[in-house]
Amino acid sequence: MVQLAESRAGGQADGTGIFTGGRMDAAVPGHLPVMPAEVMDVLAPRPGDTAVDGTTGLGGHSLLLGPALGGGGRLVCFDRDAQALALARFRLAQLPCRTNFVNMPFEFMDRELRRLGVAGADRILLDLGVSSLQLDSPERGFSFMRDGPLDMRMSRDGGPTARDIVNAWPEERLRLLFSELGEERFSRRLAKCIVEGRAGRPIETTGELSELALRAAPRLGRAHPATRMFQALRMYVNDELGCISRGLAAAGRVLPPGGRLAVLTFHSLEDRLVKRIFKRWLEMGLVEMVLSGATVPSRDEIRGNPRARSAKLRAVERLN
Ligand SMILES: C[S@@+](CC[C@H](N)C(=O)[O-])C[C@H]1O[C@@H](n2cnc3c(N)ncnc32)[C@H](O)[C@@H]1O
Repeated sequence: MVQLAESRAGGQADGTGIFTGGRMDAAVPGHLPVMPAEVMDVLAPRPGDTAVDGTTGLGGHSLLLGPALGGGGRLVCFDRDAQALALARFRLAQLPCRTNFVNMPFEFMDRELRRLGVAGADRILLDLGVSSLQLDSPERGFSFMRDGPLDMRMSRDGGPTARDIVNAWPEERLRLLFSELGEERFSRRLAKCIVEGRAGRPIETTGELSELALRAAPRLGRAHPATRMFQALRMYVNDELGCISRGLAAAGRVLPPGGRLAVLTFHSLEDRLVKRIFKRWLEMGLVEMVLSGATVPSRDEIRGNPRARSAKLRAVERLN
């Protein structure tokens, strides 16, 4: 479902001020955007630019981008999660730039920008993965730390849930999923335990699934044995790697010469894919790297925001 809406609020919006105060922050306690200074450095948005936040989430990065675009600029905020976008719309209401909200996967950014009558995007940000809101909401079923229905869909307009997969797939297919999208060492044991666990009655909740993982695989270090299995299920349910490939292609189509694209990844599968696509663009002479490799968060940032610990930032500038 497409949801197009536009807001244009005048006034002296200051991203930092909105971020630290106001009613909306009470609804999203502790939400911090990842690598905010580094993202702003590599994107270097200019007054009057058009920017796309492909993964708006709670609007943490948009709150910084909007003021830099100023009254003559435009920010187009995508998210496939309608609930996240509704919160972001509220949090971003005071931005000085023209702002549009699009409840769609970012891979449709070229089509949606055309629909809005926008010729291209000078700055694009993709902050991949799930938001703290999604992880912290038990009813969304993303986290093994919180008991809830096994859903894991970012957009709830259809498509299989994690429950459908764990209760229907044969053992070998589950093993392959955990091994390929979770890079899980104990994929065989986990798949076997799930098939045994669902024999009496279906597995319904994140709690039941994480209990099975605790029985099947040892706890290595600090990581819960369900961590990679949950990652694999979430990535499959939301076709996350497919979205990245198609989304980067769409970004390539809307960036004008001199336009910049920054991507934040959170695990090796995502990062390898982004790195490979950027390298191919470089070899084709389409882009130059804004950063020579990947930038990672400072130790201080990780201390204040542990969810940033696996982040990597890559950025390119379109040449022609
Ligand atoms: C890590 S959060 C973004 C957080 C945001 N940058 C902030 O600071 O508040 C990722 C968001 O991207 C959304 N998302 C993930 N994949 C997407 C896709 N292919 N298209 C659109 N949104 C997506 C998720 O629903 C989630 O809200």
